[in-house]
Amino acid sequence: MKLVGISGSLVGQKTAEAVHSVLFAARGLDSAIQTELIDLKDYDVEFVRGKPLAFYNEDTIEVVNKILSADFLVIGTPIYQASISGVLKNLFDHLPVDAFKSKVTGIVTTGGTEKHFLVTEYQLKPILSYLKGVVPSSNVFIHNDFFNENSEIIDDDILKRIEKLVEEMFFLQKGLMGKRTYIEN
Ligand SMILES: Cc1cc2nc3c(=O)[nH]c(=O)nc-3n(C[C@H](O)[C@H](O)[C@H](O)COP(=O)(O)O)c2cc1C
Repeated sequence: MKLVGISGSLVGQKTAEAVHSVLFAARGLDSAIQTELIDLKDYDVEFVRGKPLAFYNEDTIEVVNKILSADFLVIGTPIYQASISGVLKNLFDHLPVDAFKSKVTGIVTTGGTEKHFLVTEYQLKPILSYLKGVVPSSNVFIHNDFFNENSEIIDDDILKRIEKLVEEMFFLQKGLMGKRTYIEN
């Protein structure tokens, strides 16, 4: 089983660290799992121009194919102007509408104000659902104060919430994969 994490920040390290922590917790729960972090600052994903994927650069094609070949995913976004980041929305615009069919899509969010802790609930969750993703009931919002100067998470409660998220993601994904086998048979 492969879990792919996406970090939707081109600026700092907090979102990538949050996604990394989810992947780390997942490996702790199941040592057989494969994980990969797609940090969007490492890729030159082009703006969507309404053309088929083959018309875009290698990085864009690589990132989209990594996402499509994942069994399940965790999406990390910083809050920008009370919404998700533009690079993340642009990446979603590259995907087919059933990109996340039968895949769990967990959410981790970083932000500078607690007032925006529900932004991903109202803005990211509908996008993931539209792309047919199964969104866990729990998600993790991490205020900047819970990172140290090296962008490491320093709050035990946040780390516990990440573990809970991972447990739910495994539970849901294993159920979905069992159901898929049942349907195929
Ligand atoms: C352009 C911009 C807009 C932002 N807007 C918000 C916002 O509306 N609400 C919020 O809570 N944080 C906002 N922030 C703060 C970031 O969400 C926060 O610092 C986040 O942890 C950055 O993650 P990163 O280190 O992965 O880049 C904004 C940051 C930037 C650069």
